[in-house]
Amino acid sequence: MKQNNFWQKLKLTGKPILVLAPMAGFTDSAYRRICKYYGADVLYSEMVSATALYYSDRIGAQKKGKNPTRELMDFNRRQEKYYVVQLFGSKPEHFAAATRLITDKVKPDGIDINFGCPVSKIIKQGAGADLMKNLSQSRAVIEAVLAETNLPVSIKIRAKSGEVGALEFLKNISDLKVAAVMIHGRTLSQGFSGLPDFKLIKAARQHFQGVIIANGGITDLESAKLALKESGADGLGLARGILGRPWLFKEIKKNKQINLKLSHIFKLMINHAVSASKNKGENALIELRKHLVWYVQGLEGASKMREKLVSVTNLDDLKKIIKEYKK
Ligand SMILES: Cc1cc2nc3c(=O)[nH]c(=O)nc-3n(C[C@H](O)[C@H](O)[C@H](O)COP(=O)(O)O)c2cc1C
Repeated sequence: MKQNNFWQKLKLTGKPILVLAPMAGFTDSAYRRICKYYGADVLYSEMVSATALYYSDRIGAQKKGKNPTRELMDFNRRQEKYYVVQLFGSKPEHFAAATRLITDKVKPDGIDINFGCPVSKIIKQGAGADLMKNLSQSRAVIEAVLAETNLPVSIKIRAKSGEVGALEFLKNISDLKVAAVMIHGRTLSQGFSGLPDFKLIKAARQHFQGVIIANGGITDLESAKLALKESGADGLGLARGILGRPWLFKEIKKNKQINLKLSHIFKLMINHAVSASKNKGENALIELRKHLVWYVQGLEGASKMREKLVSVTNLDDLKKIIKEYKK
């Protein structure tokens, strides 16, 4: 079967590719659809455990009922194009089984491998940024994924993890058919703060043939323009910059600042809540609290509203809080 490399298709348009970067606890189907509406070209899932999929596949049909790992990958094909499932783990055989399952059953547009996560429970498993430190294991993981799918495979790495820099990492896999790399321009020791190194991302071009996406610290139109200019990347991966402001995708696309009216933001909050409730049922609003707080950040007199939003339990609560703020 021929590979549908949507990354190349997007690159050929000549416009910067705008990507919703993966964020565990945030980039679920409801939020991905909102980001798509505002102009995201590629949407990443929250990270999914290759190991959990490996074991769920082995237990297989004997175990009926809900499977939270599999539910993490649910998506709406029509409204979430292009959709990429991101895997984390450390063992090639786990990635191979997970890739088979995703390719056959989930059928997203692409599969991504996490080499950047700094969270201790991930690092302890030898996954995420810890895996990036081990060049031969990283290569084996990528080979295992490529061998099991016709979907385009991408990777997400950091500027540096331990002694291994992004350029060395990419050199080590330059002969493999990896369709895209998202480079978080911060080192593992920087974590999530400090300036990303966009010049390093520019230098990655020498070692990588596929699409290059720059990530880190893009919070507004100006930082997006600077990141594109300095990195020479094919696109941008947006993460915290779009929390509570998914219209940043549109601002970048149109090259124009957008000042959304408060009524519009409130409508968006309600639509987000409705959509999340449809997918996740009763508890959706509890999970949504963190998003709701982001939407009202910076709003005049919002601290009182935030206090209420962090204890919202259902849609009516949310509507009431919004109505009270308007008074
Ligand atoms: C809450 C949160 C969850 C994240 N989850 C993931 C994840 O599941 N997979 C991943 O590769 N990166 C994850 N990241 C990292 C982001 O994708 C991104 O690389 C990082 O936040 C830097 O971009 P920013 O400065 O624009 O936020 C997460 C970041 C945050 C803040």
